[in-house]
Amino acid sequence: MKKILFSLLLILISGNAFADGDADAGKSKAALCAGCHGATGHNPSPNFPNLAGQKAQYIVKQLKAFKSASRVDPTMAPMAANLSEQDMADIAAYFASQSRTGEQSANTTANTAGTSTAVPVVAVAKFVADPVAGKALYEMGDESRSLGACIGCHGKDGHSEVLIYPNLAKQHHQYIEKQLHNFKAATRTNFVMNQFAKVLSDNEIKNIGAYLADTKAVANAKMKKIMIPTAMTESAITGKNKAAACASCHGADGNSLVTMYPKLAGQNAHYLIKQLKDFKDGSRKNAIMAGMAAALSEQDRIDIANYFAAQKTTKGNGKSNTLGKKLYFGGNVKRGIPACVACHGVNGKGMAKAGFPSLAGQSVEYLRNQLKLFHIGERANDKNGIMRGVTKKLKDKQADALAQFMSAL
Ligand code: HEC
Ligand code: HEC
Ligand code: HEC
Ligand code: HEC
Repeated sequence: MKKILFSLLLILISGNAFADGDADAGKSKAALCAGCHGATGHNPSPNFPNLAGQKAQYIVKQLKAFKSASRVDPTMAPMAANLSEQDMADIAAYFASQSRTGEQSANTTANTAGTSTAVPVVAVAKFVADPVAGKALYEMGDESRSLGACIGCHGKDGHSEVLIYPNLAKQHHQYIEKQLHNFKAATRTNFVMNQFAKVLSDNEIKNIGAYLADTKAVANAKMKKIMIPTAMTESAITGKNKAAACASCHGADGNSLVTMYPKLAGQNAHYLIKQLKDFKDGSRKNAIMAGMAAALSEQDRIDIANYFAAQKTTKGNGKSNTLGKKLYFGGNVKRGIPACVACHGVNGKGMAKAGFPSLAGQSVEYLRNQLKLFHIGERANDKNGIMRGVTKKLKDKQADALAQFMSAL
């Protein structure tokens, strides 16, 4: 009987353990970190980031980055240098298992009395941070600057749902602001975060900090999307007539009804122009489109592209799903698949100026077929083989899930 109870207990304990790290072993190893991060990963001083309740995978990634100096910090470099992979996994499992709020740990933090250094106040700057403006940027981004909405990766009020994106909720706002400045100056490197931080002004960083410092205070502030009316330029109006030849397959407004013909409505003009050129010179191979594109002059391509780009995309026929979402936002580090979001955007609209196509609302069948064509190298008009590289290691199941997810965006 005792034996049975004992093995039951073992099952219970191991069922609770973390996949990679051992939180119990991590607890003693983390003693080393307590001086700054607090015994439970929670230190009230704004100088030290909260580790309590942070995603384990994220903690490990940062420790590796400090160790390899791809993230530069003079304090953390020597701390991480002596940790083995197992140490990192254990410590991460321990901190991840702690309460994010640190409520229970208020008395356990060591060395904190008197260390909460005052935040330097710049006397000349009269700027008062605006948490509502911060929330607006956080939730909606700013398309005109290709600034993605933070909420797409870091979750509502900073509660991230995707493993590789850090929680920002209950983090010291001073730390968040410091990191945004580090990303902006590229002393901390992460492709996506560097792009976004680059276009943030110092005051906007303060606004975002003020918002994340107390998200509850502005919980009821409703954000309104500012609609930028799509102007029908002269070129687009001329384009409408020229596009009549395309209507039988792509629909009069570019929303094709047959799924094997891609939607062109709302597609980025630069991208459309490039595709029409590629079909014409044969660098993108398709018998039907080669014939259609052959007759178009450069001015025709511009006008038609402007017309379709100014049209609204109708809803896609795909279904959102967790595998697709995970791959789209996080890629797959093991298989070397980059996150699609980096180029195709949080809402799947692509990046117009960079020529990255919009995928949102496109038909599942067309998207799936293009992923296959890139995968087997049949479509090879992507500069530097970007998409052939992206799809090289993509399994059928993953491509299926992605096509569904992107269409539903
Ligand atoms: C002497 C103080 C000190 C000690 C001891 C220390 N840290 Fe840190 N840690 C810092 C500081 C300061 C930062 C912020 C660095 C920055 O601004 O980029 C940091 C950042 C981190 C981060 C990144 C957090 C994030 O949200 O990106 C992790 C993870 C971390 N430390 C883990 C540890 C672990 C594990 C230990 C123990 C092995 C440890 N630290 C010991 C001072 C310390
Ligand atoms: C496409 C996904 C994505 C979007 C959108 C995004 N982030 Fe991030 N963010 C990340 C990733 C990934 C990291 C971790 C980087 C690393 O591993 O060093 C990160 C890290 C951070 C960090 C550092 C957290 C820490 O604990 O050190 C802050 C602060 C941050 N992001 C704020 C923002 C803000 C503010 C926005 C909106 C302006 C934003 N992010 C938009 C993906 C994103
Ligand atoms: C007979 C049917 C048909 C007609 C008419 C037609 N297309 Fe297409 N179009 C297609 C098919 C099929 C594809 C998908 C090709 C592939 O799979 O690579 C396509 C693809 C495209 C693409 C690439 C879209 C993307 O997302 O990459 C563009 C741009 C395009 N067509 C523009 C036009 C324009 C402009 C016209 C009129 C001048 C036109 N098409 C007329 C059938 C047609
Ligand atoms: C580094 C940037 C980058 C990343 C990351 C990326 N793409 Fe792309 N993608 C592009 C570019 C650029 C094109 C257009 C190539 C061309 O000029 O024809 C494209 C085209 C596509 C197309 C064809 C669209 C059409 O209308 O024909 C699909 C589908 C696509 N990407 C899906 C994905 C998926 C799924 C992922 C993630 C697994 C991904 N992309 C990651 C840059 C990227």
